Amino acid sequence: MTAQAIELVRDHLDRINPATVLDDAQRRNFRDRIKALLQARDAVLVAHYYTDPEIQALAEETGGCVADSLEMARFGKEHPASTLIVAGVRFMGETAKILSPEKRVFMPTLEATCSLDLGCPEKAFAEFCDAHPDRTVVVYANTSAAVKARADWVVTSSIAVELIEHLDRQGEKIIWAPDKHLGDYVTRQTGADVLCWDSACIVHEEFKARGVLDLREAYPDAAVLVHPESPQAVVEIADVVGSTSQLIKAAVELPNQTLIVATDRGIFYKMQQLAPGKTFIEAPTAGSGATCRSCAHCPWMAMNGLENMCRVLEDEQGAGQEIFVDPEIARKAMVPLDRMLAFGASLASR
Ligand code: 13P
Ligand code: SF4
Repeated sequence: MTAQAIELVRDHLDRINPATVLDDAQRRNFRDRIKALLQARDAVLVAHYYTDPEIQALAEETGGCVADSLEMARFGKEHPASTLIVAGVRFMGETAKILSPEKRVFMPTLEATCSLDLGCPEKAFAEFCDAHPDRTVVVYANTSAAVKARADWVVTSSIAVELIEHLDRQGEKIIWAPDKHLGDYVTRQTGADVLCWDSACIVHEEFKARGVLDLREAYPDAAVLVHPESPQAVVEIADVVGSTSQLIKAAVELPNQTLIVATDRGIFYKMQQLAPGKTFIEAPTAGSGATCRSCAHCPWMAMNGLENMCRVLEDEQGAGQEIFVDPEIARKAMVPLDRMLAFGASLASR
């Protein structure tokens, strides 16, 4: 990451307010109020697998969805509700708004961002693309609307390898941004000609190969599941490398009773629900006494809470947490986003 991007990420991390810790009575109270307000506001809750278990449970109980970033985008676009409450990080809210401009989109807090998004500023990225006009521009969903507007394709980790393979078969040379680990992973998988932007996820970058190997020695029958935003040394140990939804599927389908998981621990809610008899172990990070600022839980995902969600729903104006995207940027970003959805759908129907 550039020094400027590192500074930006640090600055955001210093300003983080995790969601308020609630006692049982407060939790019940907020949950009841949110349920009533979702109905009254014709709103549906769309939550990511990394949000806290109580947010995921509420999305399920109220007919919303808990999903990866690709499915969140698809669900939000197709759902008939006039209002979307997106519990995740900012790029997910922006994507929802771009795909459904007629809907109002709110988030519990617009401060919830992503180090990949911060690590890929629009202007520097545009200069990078301009310097390589012969390359097809593929950006990860974890980017701002303005960066998407500059892209030919948007992609999520669940379809990244397939898309790069597809473009490579057509002889295209590629710019990949912003996650260098995922970019390196798809390059190794496909052999495509990929020029990578240099940014990383502060959560996945913390996983350590040495720690995972030690853990595997302690649990020799365990399978290791790794999200490809992790460093190469960790990916190489994995039995399964995949997006959040692919790791959940593997957790259910693998015969192993114990699973060592290198991704955000929010995913354990869904894994435990779908594979209740199994044991899930968090892959080690640097540890709280060292430099680790995330420790297997995205600090921005953790900002989504019942209290701030309730505040947003109670206020007609969404307590200032409504997503707006410049219409011209949205119009341009819609093109690569639509391509992503169509490509994802074509893979699903194979
Ligand atoms: P998914 O696309 O697998 O949901 O991942 C999003 C993300 O932010 C991973 O860190
Ligand atoms: Fe971004 Fe990493 Fe958080 Fe995912 S886990 S939203 S990539 S900072």
